Amino acid sequence: MDLRAGRMSRASLPNKVIVKAPATTANLGPGFDVFGMSLEHPSDKVTITPISKDIKIEVSGLAADSIPTDPEKNTAGVVAKHILHEFKIRTGLMIKLEKGIPHSLGLGSSAASAAAVAFGLNRLFELKLDPKELIQLAAKGEIASAGFEHADNVSAAICGDFVIIKSYKPLEVVHLKSPQNLDISIAIPSIPNKPKKTEEARSILPKTVSMEKLVYNIGHAATMATGFALSDVNLIGKSMSDAVVEPARAFMIPGYQEVRKRALEAGACGVCISGAGPAILAVVNSNNTDASEVARVMERGFESAGVNADTYCTRPGKGVFLLQEE
Ligand code: HSE
Repeated sequence: MDLRAGRMSRASLPNKVIVKAPATTANLGPGFDVFGMSLEHPSDKVTITPISKDIKIEVSGLAADSIPTDPEKNTAGVVAKHILHEFKIRTGLMIKLEKGIPHSLGLGSSAASAAAVAFGLNRLFELKLDPKELIQLAAKGEIASAGFEHADNVSAAICGDFVIIKSYKPLEVVHLKSPQNLDISIAIPSIPNKPKKTEEARSILPKTVSMEKLVYNIGHAATMATGFALSDVNLIGKSMSDAVVEPARAFMIPGYQEVRKRALEAGACGVCISGAGPAILAVVNSNNTDASEVARVMERGFESAGVNADTYCTRPGKGVFLLQEE
């Protein structure tokens, strides 16, 4: 094994790492590919062990049968392969993904696997990578699921809380804490899962944007960032509106407008499509509104459109972390 010059020898490194990576939401309305937020629940557990050769992936947990185990097609495998190549680490890896995050729903399932592997290999091989480098490596995995290295979900999965991708080239990420009284209600409609859902949801986006819509989105995105900086949940929620991406995608989620309307009537501060959907996310001020009541009306909103939905409540959470090493 040819670790980078100056790195520790294999004998002093762990033989196995187990990490936990959170679900994330992206866009939050006006911040397409720019805003991300980690969620306290659910999360994935990922175990990485060096083996003699090849990258082997085992998947268990939610919808495990529909997640590819071919390292070329799995975000975890893509990231692992890239890191081994980049750092000239000559070993194989066994990666066990225990999926708690359902995939293809807009909750950053692929980003969690990617972030977990970047973080885990950094630990396993003492690569001394900083969060920005981890984000860059983890974003490579998004090509496997979205066809593009969008870094919003992986940044949130690595940093935790709220992130802003200020620039992609060069990558610059701003990280802000979330308000204590920010609760989140999520509704996940039971609609058929498409294999390349995010790629498709990106392919239908407009290629050009009018000046009017640009001004609208800049105003809302700037105000949302200010809401996080001021810990003002109402300001965050009021800014949760998008003139560009959501109008193009809403048709993919039957009942979206009704769910949004009912959640706002029940006291949610703002509602958006979570990432590329179809999960819908509502921001709730826990000082005056019960997130579980908002979740209930969101479920009924979907029912009114003839769609069953699962709902749950959570909060912004921390980034990927080490559970155990041996
Ligand atoms: N920003 C990405 C998109 C997030 O909306 O396509 C995908 O989870």
